[in-house]
Amino acid sequence: MGRAYKLKGQKRKKREDKYDKGEELEELNEKKAKTEVLVADKEEEKLEPVIDEMPGIPMVEVTTNDNKPGVTFVIEKASLEIGKVGKSYQLLSSDEHASYLLKNKRNPADYRPDIAFQAIQTILDSRVNKSGRLKALYVRTQLGILFEIKPHARMPRTYKRFAGLMVQLLQKLHITASGKGEKLLRVIKNPVTKYLPINSRKIGFSHSSEKLVDMYDYVGTINSELDLVFVVGAMSHGKIEKEYVEDYISISEFPMSAAYCISIITTAVERKWRIL
Ligand SMILES: C[S@@+](CC[C@H](N)C(=O)[O-])C[C@H]1O[C@@H](n2cnc3c(N)ncnc32)[C@H](O)[C@@H]1O
Repeated sequence: MGRAYKLKGQKRKKREDKYDKGEELEELNEKKAKTEVLVADKEEEKLEPVIDEMPGIPMVEVTTNDNKPGVTFVIEKASLEIGKVGKSYQLLSSDEHASYLLKNKRNPADYRPDIAFQAIQTILDSRVNKSGRLKALYVRTQLGILFEIKPHARMPRTYKRFAGLMVQLLQKLHITASGKGEKLLRVIKNPVTKYLPINSRKIGFSHSSEKLVDMYDYVGTINSELDLVFVVGAMSHGKIEKEYVEDYISISEFPMSAAYCISIITTAVERKWRIL
């Protein structure tokens, strides 16, 4: 899956293995310090700098529905990594930084931040969120950095501005609401299980699962009092394998984008809870 990029005379590092073994950094500061930063050859690659300073992001008004069961999304293996390209830090992507990544012995096909961008947008745009039933949204990057996005954060709608925001988040560890002190995005300590509702059903999504279900029928069988936690991957290839997931399901015989998969999930929940 994805574009094939040739890496000259070097073995690809098995990055997935490293994280599958649960090797995570203990403290956020340590994490920040160890965030991989790639330094490009200044002469050979000069790209437009991303927006260095952003004053914060606005909030949207969403209905609160705290007394009813809700939905939590966990986006796993999101390809959100920054690197120093020329003089500025940028969100690395196969579209913009292919030659830079090859020079740094990385496979450009692994760098797909657009997948997480679309997934986040689909979750926040859903009626589940607008009705106040989205309780939380967590994103875990391929490097194991975990951050939370508040459901009422108004995320940038263009990729370029999203990329700028991610650079800011991964450097400063939080993004506040414009004009206010509330942290709408913030890097938090692993593991994500610390934040998941106790009385919840944790469902993972994978095309390779042998349990192929109709999503609407599936959510219909779950006790309506339970909170629902959905775990979806945002990587270009590979699958999510998380020990906290109770059930892995496939919801189509076809492999889908994370965003389309999320749209099927939210539509099924909206029908179950009669959210129009
Ligand atoms: C871009 S895909 C990842 C591609 C990966 N090769 C795969 O098929 O899982 C992003 C995510 O969407 C979800 N997904 C895609 N197709 C699915 C399907 N048919 N059933 C369930 N989840 C699916 C999975 O969570 C997957 O990690």
